[in-house]
Amino acid sequence: MAARSGGVETLRWTGHRLELIDQRALPQRLEYVACASAAETAAAIRDMVVRGAPAIGCAAAFGVALEAARLRDASDVARAEGMHQAFAALRASRPTAVNLFWALDRMQAVLASVAGRSGAEIAAAAAAEAQRISAEDIEINRAMGRHGAALVRDGARIMTHCNAGALATAGYGTALGVVRAARDAGKRISVIANETRPFLQGARLTAWELVQERIPVTLVTDGMAGHLMQTGKVDLVVVGADRVAANGDVANKIGTYTLAVLAARHRLPFYVAAPCSTIDLSIRGGDAIPIEERPPGEVTGFRGVRWAPDGVAVANPAFDVTPAELVTALITERGVVQPPTEAGLRALFG
Ligand code: MRU
Repeated sequence: MAARSGGVETLRWTGHRLELIDQRALPQRLEYVACASAAETAAAIRDMVVRGAPAIGCAAAFGVALEAARLRDASDVARAEGMHQAFAALRASRPTAVNLFWALDRMQAVLASVAGRSGAEIAAAAAAEAQRISAEDIEINRAMGRHGAALVRDGARIMTHCNAGALATAGYGTALGVVRAARDAGKRISVIANETRPFLQGARLTAWELVQERIPVTLVTDGMAGHLMQTGKVDLVVVGADRVAANGDVANKIGTYTLAVLAARHRLPFYVAAPCSTIDLSIRGGDAIPIEERPPGEVTGFRGVRWAPDGVAVANPAFDVTPAELVTALITERGVVQPPTEAGLRALFG
């Protein structure tokens, strides 16, 4: 199965292995890393080969499918033990994006429904569910894009942060899905992509995606956002999310909170585009969302070049929490929740 996305295939399922675009190598090299087991998939998620909340959910689902295939001929006891370890490794790969746990819960439910069947049937059921999760993700992003595009006026200059595009999903993207849908609706939009220190998802990935598709994009460093807003060069902000709490608080890439404060100061709409699988109603507020702390080396340098002195203390929280009151609306595949209140979020789930 090929998950097509703005000209790139973020995840490729061959039937017996998972191929992932190595997002660490972009934009210099477009190359794939192959995973043949849950452990290899968990390592690819941890090491940022694949990243972005929906994409890591899809990758984890395929990781389960790979393990079910690997254990096809194992005894029931050995399969149960192997699958237990597979889920544990995948669940431990990254903590913040709830899509990872959502996808694994879905895979666990499918495996429970085929318990007692042959190894081949279990492997087939797991592979089918992983492919469904991936295919649904693209459809969800397109629906989200349509809802979000209605909020974007012709000529809008859209600021975004990190990469919430095709590369962060099975295809099309969440925040960049809104951009794509607005462009497809004939609106002459342009994008301001924040570089996104320290991992540079904006400079390396968002800029690459948009340049490939000839969507006008201007790259800026994170510290330039306030100046651009103050001088009237931004019309709205749209970002993705890694987890939305029941009260509407949003965890997303570090720097998102700063942007939301700036957008409020300049009375600019601040939109969050996220599928319902990113909403975690079990968490009441953003203060309970686990925030990943990543290695100091990501801050002291990049790709082997070190610019900070030896011995300096470093903090590297990978995400921050934007309070719901700073979010103009949450754009989901089931509609726009404006403002994102707990009642509004719960209503999405009927
Ligand atoms: O650390 P990353 O690159 O996985 O962080 C990604 C983000 O913060 C994205 O904005 C978020 O996952 C939404 S992707 C559609």
